[in-house]
Amino acid sequence: MTDPAALESSLLADIAAATSEEALEAVRVAALGKKGSLSALLATLGTMAPEERKSFGAAVNAVKDRVAEALSARKAVLKDAALDARLATERLDVTLPARESGIEAGRIHPISQVMDELTAIFADLGFAVAEGPDIESDDLNFTRLNFPPHHPAREMHDTFFFAPDAKGERKLLRTHTSPVQVRTMLSQKPPIRVICPGRTYRCDSDQTHTPMFHQVEGLVIDRSANLGQLKWVLKEFCRAFFEVADVRMRFRPSFFPFTEPSMEVDIQCSRRGGEIRFGEGEDWLEILGCGMVHPNVLRNCGLNPDEVQGYAWGMGIDRIAMLKYGMPDLRPFFEADIRWLKHYGFRPLDLPSLAGGLSA
Ligand code: DAH
Repeated sequence: MTDPAALESSLLADIAAATSEEALEAVRVAALGKKGSLSALLATLGTMAPEERKSFGAAVNAVKDRVAEALSARKAVLKDAALDARLATERLDVTLPARESGIEAGRIHPISQVMDELTAIFADLGFAVAEGPDIESDDLNFTRLNFPPHHPAREMHDTFFFAPDAKGERKLLRTHTSPVQVRTMLSQKPPIRVICPGRTYRCDSDQTHTPMFHQVEGLVIDRSANLGQLKWVLKEFCRAFFEVADVRMRFRPSFFPFTEPSMEVDIQCSRRGGEIRFGEGEDWLEILGCGMVHPNVLRNCGLNPDEVQGYAWGMGIDRIAMLKYGMPDLRPFFEADIRWLKHYGFRPLDLPSLAGGLSA
């Protein structure tokens, strides 16, 4: 095309017809690019007579300016339209409720919850947490705890024994958390104040027993530890754990090889309407064993019973979880059924604390 006016109107029509920024860019290249139609027109200037060249050149340059202007105007319009379209498709209603994130949707198992509650309560009373292995020696699980060889209490524990090793030593799955008492006394100097939560194992299975279960042990060793302190600590624990203003407790004489005297503790409850409530009523429910640490145990752990004394207790975590949260059967605790966990589990971001509430 050699007529600047005709070229102009054709280019302006192309510009108006471009419906996207890419299409407009193609029009720009076809007009103003190195091989574009306007550039081709300017290239013909060299063949013209000087007079003609002057007026033709001015006309083509004027067309070039107007085309450039039309391009940038159209570009602005297309840009705005593209933004509007994007805003329309990416619109977000910020007033909608937030979708639950993965971390919110999961649930904390009641055992983990109760362990966190126990830790919060006893940390407040100045207790540290001590741990030990699930696989124990006969020595730490029984002998140092003053179980005589062949004593029937060893059998009462329904122990899972491993096959003897090359040295003839028979390891076992710990039957209680009490070996962690021994480990703590062997590795720390008094005063000692620890709780030891963890897994324990006995060959037993019914509605309230599973082969693997959980206990928490408590141990205090110092110069003047006594039964009065033990009673106070346990009472404070029960009030905080069961979230009641007051709770009556009953200490009954009992026997454990590692304590002397030994007691079992019942707490007051009511069972009206098939529901257990603590801090009221006339019924009693056994929740733990306790006593003063036997002098033989202190000696077996390298301590002198004439210098230090101690009290200890042991409690089933699964049992107190069932009591507090009203679960009738222990077995589903370990069946990993997501429906059970959804029903009985706890929200992961509600960490139990004494200030914020244990189970709120
Ligand atoms: N270890 C005992 C059991 O599993 C529980 C127990 C009773 C632990 C009295 C103690 C205690 O520390 O003093 O049956």
